[in-house]
Amino acid sequence: MKFFVDTANLAQIREANDLGILDGVTTNPSLMAKEGIVGQQNILDHYVEICNIMDGDVSAEVISTDFEGIKREGLILADLHKNIVVKVPMIKEGVKAIKFFSDNGIKTNCTLVFSAGQAILAAKAGATYLSPFIGRVDDTGWDGLQLIGQIVEIYRNYGFQTEVLAASIRNSNHIIKCAELGADVVTCPLSSILGLFKHPLTDSGLEQFLSDHKKANG
Ligand code: G3P
Repeated sequence: MKFFVDTANLAQIREANDLGILDGVTTNPSLMAKEGIVGQQNILDHYVEICNIMDGDVSAEVISTDFEGIKREGLILADLHKNIVVKVPMIKEGVKAIKFFSDNGIKTNCTLVFSAGQAILAAKAGATYLSPFIGRVDDTGWDGLQLIGQIVEIYRNYGFQTEVLAASIRNSNHIIKCAELGADVVTCPLSSILGLFKHPLTDSGLEQFLSDHKKANG
């Protein structure tokens, strides 16, 4: 199972990478705006900076919604660094662009996926990654994790090579459930990754070990 961190914040990417368990980074236009990264050149420079921090796939999202625009943007993004994955929205023009990128050896991440039908289309087009949004599905009263399970099953039925990248993760339990369901990748806020470390018995057990050692050794 691959761990990606879902942020454009360089300090958080460094912190996640320093843990030694990070496989990649995903960003989106909202996350870039949150960090105050504006203007095309600054945005491109920021992606390169992320790629220089960690050696793994880095998703950079297009903002065009027509085939020619997505293609043009995607080619610029892919040219920035070997680890860039072009993130494309699940729309008709996006699926056409994913097919183009796939035919030309450019990695893609199909984003804004909320149904199994969309997942089939992206896999048929040759997407490298598929991003179903767990948290946002949950927010509408449906079950985001059920969607992950459904897509994993469909992809296994047909041997689709597209990796299921569970996105919109809101807590550590989402990560564990995704692992049970067989998601290939989880992209998480740093807090959800750090939450996996926590167990009160680890804390109290360590305290006891250290205090016993101190008593015995002075
Ligand atoms: O990058 C896509 C996704 O992870 C967004 O998550 O929390 O904005 O629903 P969220």
